[in-house]
Amino acid sequence: MRYMPIVKVKTGMSLGQDIYDGEGKVLYGTGTMLQQEDVQELAGMGLWGIYVEDSVSGGIKVEPLISAALQREALRLVHDLFDESRCQEISQDDIQEIARRMAREIFAGKDRLYNKIDTRSLENYAFFHSVNVAALAAMLGMASGNLDMEEITMLTASALLHDVGRRYVEANVLNAKRTLTEEERILVEQHPKLSYDFLMEHYEFEPEVLKGVLEHHEWYNGCGYPMGRSGYEISYFARIIKTADVFDALTSKLPYHDPVTPSGAMDYLLANAGAEFDPDLVDLLTKKIAIYPVGCEIALSDGRNAIVIENNRESMLRPKACTLPDGEIIDLYGEDAKDLTVLELFV
Ligand SMILES: [Fe+2]
Repeated sequence: MRYMPIVKVKTGMSLGQDIYDGEGKVLYGTGTMLQQEDVQELAGMGLWGIYVEDSVSGGIKVEPLISAALQREALRLVHDLFDESRCQEISQDDIQEIARRMAREIFAGKDRLYNKIDTRSLENYAFFHSVNVAALAAMLGMASGNLDMEEITMLTASALLHDVGRRYVEANVLNAKRTLTEEERILVEQHPKLSYDFLMEHYEFEPEVLKGVLEHHEWYNGCGYPMGRSGYEISYFARIIKTADVFDALTSKLPYHDPVTPSGAMDYLLANAGAEFDPDLVDLLTKKIAIYPVGCEIALSDGRNAIVIENNRESMLRPKACTLPDGEIIDLYGEDAKDLTVLELFV
């Protein structure tokens, strides 16, 4: 299986992974032979890329942090929480159960790197984003070694819920491609408090879960909102969610920006460590993110393109790859490839 930007997908290619909507409903199943109208529809939905199965990528497995089945259940939960008519039906147990299962799955694969590129449509961004931030936050919390499983479950719940207050902000403001007016900016900046108020009204979550939600836009240097807290005054959960939130947003297609590569996102986080982000958490994230995700195409300095098949833990910048179209395996960390570099990642 390989990741392919939607503009490169051709008629007749076979889908490598289910594509589902924001409620977790499968729109296109794995193995679907894509027709021209399918590709047009996927592009029209704002999908930036998809996973396809072809002869050159056979045997390449992309292991997500959580299974597709659980991701779909989590999407459904978040979708319903964002829906005023359905949110009353979601109990605290429902949220905690999904958070617990996510934490368990991530623990089972705790040595994995984050290699996944989400195939999400623009319309469903909020749901995919919430679930992805929860998975990334749990991964970071686990990697920190500072939290036990009960705390990681709470952190995961907090991250799943962090943006639920955005449902009170009009979509045309959230998706505006222009600079927001002062009034609109104030409205957007109310969403952490709106998330917090919603949780206070309907549930009885632990203070750490609530603080994670309320403070997820605080900056390490005190320049964030809503309270302008700084450093360790900001709860640990909120500092983790903030780091995961920005990484996921930067690597996503949004109405106002195209996705940046994982290295581009890490570059931003590193540049703003100590200002916007807790530097220890940024440092931790650099060890967990695959700069060249498995299944992605890269351009090599000898003029050939290749598909990443494995990351080297010792050097994330030197993956193992399979050249196109001849299928030669090159280990960029090996002695024979010292003069080769990766020039570009196609995402
Ligand atoms: Fe937010």
